[in-house]
Amino acid sequence: MLKYLCVREEGVYVDATVGDGGYSEAILSKTGGKSTVVGIDIDESAIKVATKRLARFGDSFVPVVGDYAQIEELVREEAGFDFVDGIVFDLGLRSELLAEPIRGFSMKLKGPLDMRYDMKSEKTAYKVINTYSLERLENVLRKFGDVKQARKIAKAIVQRRQHAPIEDTLSFSEVVKSAVPKTMWDEVIPKVFMAIRIEVNDELDKLKRALYGSLELLKPGGRLVVVTYHSGEDRVVKKFFVTESKDCICPPGVPVCRCGHVKQLEIITKKPIRPSAEEIAANPRARSARLRAAEKVRREYA
Ligand SMILES: C[S@@+](CC[C@H](N)C(=O)[O-])C[C@H]1O[C@@H](n2cnc3c(N)ncnc32)[C@H](O)[C@@H]1O
Repeated sequence: MLKYLCVREEGVYVDATVGDGGYSEAILSKTGGKSTVVGIDIDESAIKVATKRLARFGDSFVPVVGDYAQIEELVREEAGFDFVDGIVFDLGLRSELLAEPIRGFSMKLKGPLDMRYDMKSEKTAYKVINTYSLERLENVLRKFGDVKQARKIAKAIVQRRQHAPIEDTLSFSEVVKSAVPKTMWDEVIPKVFMAIRIEVNDELDKLKRALYGSLELLKPGGRLVVVTYHSGEDRVVKKFFVTESKDCICPPGVPVCRCGHVKQLEIITKKPIRPSAEEIAANPRARSARLRAAEKVRREYA
């Protein structure tokens, strides 16, 4: 990540998903605390953990509780920086949350069907699972989890809740299990939980908004680095990078450009970067990680 972000002393960086502060710590350590990191997280508990971990860097770490969909406002109005040298996203779930049953992310520990990063949000996993129509549930499972048995599982959910609402994570796992062969449980249940989590937190829509906001914040030559863990997220990032690295985005066949679109990014990683075997051994969660990086174009004005 550091290599692609091109971290340097005196630079201002945004860690848009600060989590436990691992990435922020890497940036600040690399620059001997001489850079500044604005650390954003929607989850207040993550900001508390990161702030404690990074206390030794003093004012060089600027914690901000907020949604990265509003990255521009958060960085400009809350942190006080108009432009920055680099922005990094490390998407998905903070693994510590799996050990907190009360947050409802774990499929192994009994907890309420919650799954919200932002505890003030109204959309919970309970609401998605117990009120969405069959078609909507099927679409969520297929689109956000690549779940092949989406229709069967959605049907099982709808049938089960006709008797009584599905109240907790373990009951929900049981419903999913009832719809697929036992040999597939280990593969399918995590995908179903991931799909519901992505829907609860509007992760893909927010990511799109965050990427466009990032473009406004980057200085010419500034780097944007995104680490994804799911093909749906990676597709959003790839499409954004490809679109913003072109001067014209008119549909094919239009004889003269009418869109007026101007290239904003230079893609650094032609293909997504996958973790090495050593990185996977050190952190099994990294197995599905894909990193993409791009640089804001440097324009010469006549
Ligand atoms: C995988 S963790 C980041 C881990 C971090 N790189 C580290 O080194 O500890 C992803 C973080 O993104 C946060 N997050 C998810 N959606 C968000 C959003 N819309 N806005 C801001 N933060 C978000 C989660 O709360 C979580 O803490």
